[in-house]
Amino acid sequence: MVPTQLVELLTLLAAFPLLSSAQLTPSPTYAPPSPTAGLAKSSSTPNTQWANVLGNSLYFFDAQRSGKLDQGTYGNRVAWRNDSALNDGSDYGVDLTGGWYDAGDYIKATFPLVHTLFAISWSALTHGQGYSIASQTAYLDGTLRWGYDWLMKAHPSDDVLFVQVGDSDIDNSYWGGDRNIATPRPAFPVNSSFPGTDVWAASSAALAMASLLYSNATYSPFASSQQPANPSLSNTTYSAQLLDHATRLYTVANTTKQVSFATSIPAVASAYGSSGWGDDMALAALSLALATNQSRYYADAYRWYGRYSLTGTSFVYNWDSKTPAVFVLFVEAARANPSLARGAGLAVNETGWQREAENYFDRVINGQTTNTYRTGAGLQLWRGDSDFASLNPALAFTMLLLKYAPMASSIDKSNQYTAFAQTQIDYVMGKNPANAVYMVGSHPNSPKNPHSAPASGGTGFTNLRTNPPQNIHTLYGAVVGGPLANDLYWDWRDDWVQAEIALDYNAAIPGIAAMQLANSSSPDPYYVNVQAGTYSIPSGQPCDAALPCGNRLPAGAIAGIVLGCLAFLVLVAGLIWWGRRRRRYSGKGV
Ligand SMILES: *[C@@H]1O[C@H](CO)[C@@H](O)[C@H](O)[C@H]1NC(C)=O
Ligand SMILES: *[C@@H]1O[C@H](CO)[C@@H](O)[C@H](O)[C@H]1NC(C)=O
Ligand SMILES: *[C@@H]1O[C@H](CO)[C@@H](O)[C@H](O)[C@H]1NC(C)=O
Ligand SMILES: *[C@@H]1O[C@H](CO)[C@@H](O)[C@H](O)[C@H]1NC(C)=O
Ligand SMILES: *[C@@H]1O[C@H](CO)[C@@H](O)[C@H](O)[C@H]1NC(C)=O
Ligand SMILES: *[C@@H]1O[C@H](CO)[C@@H](O)[C@H](O)[C@H]1NC(C)=O
Ligand SMILES: *[C@@H]1O[C@H](CO)[C@@H](O)[C@H](O)[C@H]1NC(C)=O
Ligand SMILES: *[C@@H]1O[C@H](CO)[C@@H](O)[C@H](O)[C@H]1NC(C)=O
Repeated sequence: MVPTQLVELLTLLAAFPLLSSAQLTPSPTYAPPSPTAGLAKSSSTPNTQWANVLGNSLYFFDAQRSGKLDQGTYGNRVAWRNDSALNDGSDYGVDLTGGWYDAGDYIKATFPLVHTLFAISWSALTHGQGYSIASQTAYLDGTLRWGYDWLMKAHPSDDVLFVQVGDSDIDNSYWGGDRNIATPRPAFPVNSSFPGTDVWAASSAALAMASLLYSNATYSPFASSQQPANPSLSNTTYSAQLLDHATRLYTVANTTKQVSFATSIPAVASAYGSSGWGDDMALAALSLALATNQSRYYADAYRWYGRYSLTGTSFVYNWDSKTPAVFVLFVEAARANPSLARGAGLAVNETGWQREAENYFDRVINGQTTNTYRTGAGLQLWRGDSDFASLNPALAFTMLLLKYAPMASSIDKSNQYTAFAQTQIDYVMGKNPANAVYMVGSHPNSPKNPHSAPASGGTGFTNLRTNPPQNIHTLYGAVVGGPLANDLYWDWRDDWVQAEIALDYNAAIPGIAAMQLANSSSPDPYYVNVQAGTYSIPSGQPCDAALPCGNRLPAGAIAGIVLGCLAFLVLVAGLIWWGRRRRRYSGKGV
């Protein structure tokens, strides 16, 4: 019997003959400019400021690298980083060096990683032009390969996928540079005895999307003219390699008892405890349908969509929740490859899928949901999901809106979505009451103290906020967690709610920047209008989960105190009554 992967590989190779394109070399090379460059309006096309946002947002991923840095397509751009964690995977005899640190510390986490890789690959698929006009395609290639090469190493056999490297408790006890990272750094695999349906499927989705991106296949959801999505990235060898991992992961997820990885491996649940897999299965199946041009995956995607009742939700789009992306990807599939639905015996139903997507967007934008709200200055929030990183859900929603707008059912809708997206982009880029520009290194008002151990230069948790007074390295391109619901931002390193950085916080920004670049009428990022020095740390206390207020107690504590006082009063009243009784009785001379 011929394995299906081989058939798929041969089909792919037959469809897209091998060509020798040159290995991509950055030309010209890019280095982030000084933050003061953010004060100048762009005067040329492509927009210089958006090109810098794109360049810096990818540079951030270089600063997060783990392993031997002087590898990959263009080597190491971040002089202050050193090789690190060179024994990762040794406890399982697997090479798990490389990849990226997830956030401000030194854990490597697969689930948020693959969400990030999916988002970047998917936006590059439809807006690769933004990367090429800004001369960032080689850096895109380098970034994606750094992530996907590690992911493929973390998938050494069909069912085994490493979901985390580094123990959260050990890692959380260390704050310092990259030369003395806390050890041991255990690796955590899922496998057929300890399944991880969500992480298998989410990884498959990301790999399938990248396979499509590297395939040189035509993918044109916006126009009838069939153009390869991203011709200069084409590499059929790499595309086939990615697809092989994607199909094997999906097969395991589809044939093994379905369990969340966080249930199978409780030790990793504290970092990223996923809440389900229906969205991941649908996204993986649909991505595989597009990458393989096989309707059986489309049939699966449709089945997961129904089985997990994904219709009509108003969920956030983030590392744990991909249903909103499924809405948009179904619309893209209907337009880019209608033969997939037909081959599965299903209606293409472009208008039906548009209705699904627009129902979602309209309910959020019009405030018709109970799980969303907006800050006074207009930042879109999801209850709970936005509490620890307010900008992340808003940016993810913005990316979806911009991606979807050209496919909307009417020009009015399209304009409405683009306009709402613009309000969120403006907010992040400085149109907010704090006058803060929430991308590190883009403007003099950008955060100076993101919560990043290697960038800070500090050692130990004592005086985390002031030691040193300012981060010694600028973590260019990092989007911070963001302001609180009162639109204020404390640039304090110890406030991880507001100041932490993470791969997934940066997932949407390269795509958004590429979309702005692809549209020559896009205005500059708002920060060019923000005067330097107009941001300052607010007075008072932030009162968030990282820094709960001393003088403003949580509701539970207040309730406890009120109950305590009442109990005390009852006790005192009882004692007085008892004393009076005694006296009365005494008075009676008992
Ligand atoms: C294509 O990708 C393969 C696998 O990563 C790599 O070995 C090869 O150098 C790439 N070819 C070109 C021309 O970039
Ligand atoms: C990298 O190594 C150099 C030289 O030892 C050191 O000064 C620097 O702090 C290290 N970088 C980090 C992020 O720890
Ligand atoms: C399967 O995964 C579990 C949980 O991570 C791990 O303890 C076990 O060693 C793995 N089994 C194999 C054969 O790798
Ligand atoms: C990509 O496809 C186009 C036709 O759609 C073809 O002209 C081009 O040579 C292909 N490039 C590569 C590198 O496969
Ligand atoms: C996908 O397969 C169908 C036949 O099932 C074919 O007509 C179509 O051209 C293929 N599309 C691509 C992009 O290869
Ligand atoms: C996934 O599993 C179902 C039922 O177990 C099967 O019908 C379906 O064909 C499988 N999907 C693929 C793509 O093999
Ligand atoms: C098209 O999609 C809508 C959901 O938006 C659904 O109600 C309808 O049944 C679908 N039609 C077909 C023929 O699948
Ligand atoms: C391009 O940007 C302008 C200004 O923001 C906007 O009005 C227009 O709708 C955008 N065009 C497209 C095709 O997105």
